[in-house]
Amino acid sequence: MQIFTTIADLRHWRRQQHATLGLVPTMGALHEGHLSLVRAARASSDLVAATIFVNPLQFAPTEDLAKYPRTFAEDCALLEREDVDILFAPSATEMYPTGAETFVDVPNIGSRLDGASRPGHFRGVATVVTKLFNILQPHHAYFGQKDAAQVAVLRTMVRDLNLPVDLRVCPTVRDTDGLALSSRNRYLTPTEREQALAIPRTLHCISQSISRGERSAVNLRDHLHQCLGKAEGLRLDYAELVDAATLLPVETVGPGTLVAIAAYAGTTRLIDNLLLPETEAQP
Ligand code: PAF
Repeated sequence: MQIFTTIADLRHWRRQQHATLGLVPTMGALHEGHLSLVRAARASSDLVAATIFVNPLQFAPTEDLAKYPRTFAEDCALLEREDVDILFAPSATEMYPTGAETFVDVPNIGSRLDGASRPGHFRGVATVVTKLFNILQPHHAYFGQKDAAQVAVLRTMVRDLNLPVDLRVCPTVRDTDGLALSSRNRYLTPTEREQALAIPRTLHCISQSISRGERSAVNLRDHLHQCLGKAEGLRLDYAELVDAATLLPVETVGPGTLVAIAAYAGTTRLIDNLLLPETEAQP
């Protein structure tokens, strides 16, 4: 695996490649969820690029930028093992030189769900992903379904800016106990981790209610809030039923509805969701 830290060197390499390129953008602290994206890229592109960049622009001043886990050596070993061709791991000044003042904003979708709780977050995500697309010029780019709001924002951005990149979304990877994998899970104490399991359990309950025929978003939302309200040690940020493409609330649940939860276990913010498949009338 070749490692690039400068845009100039990466561009030089890119100009010599004519094969299809699959990109897996990450902030490092890699886990099986990231590796599933790498494997999907490996299966459908000739060349696979990963990026590791803890993007300061998507963290608010009050958030965990400074303590975000950085495990570069372990990450490189994992990517090597997955046969990744190149890794782009720039510094913050390489990506945002002094004087940088241009941003990509997706203001409506970008202020829903996580965008409402984390103002400016999706502007940071959209800006860095656009830059990574410009620098690496991938044919395909891979993202996790766990970050459903991020997916909706990026799909909108790709459509609106006619970016020539095919976004591919891979299923959420879970631990054996059901908790969705996240780099932030490593912040959890054993007690908090136990408490966090209320999130996948609640999604499972909601899925069962829908399977039994419940279609009213109001009823399901009440159910969501009751389950999560009772969960010891969890502080709810949001629990909503929305259209997965627009992130706007739905009245009736159906194909393409996203049941999305964000909650704090201790000081760690966790997200998870359930997407009702587009192709089936019944989940
Ligand atoms: O999902 C993430 O890890 C980040 O938001 C991304 C897409 C790598 C942009 O920094």
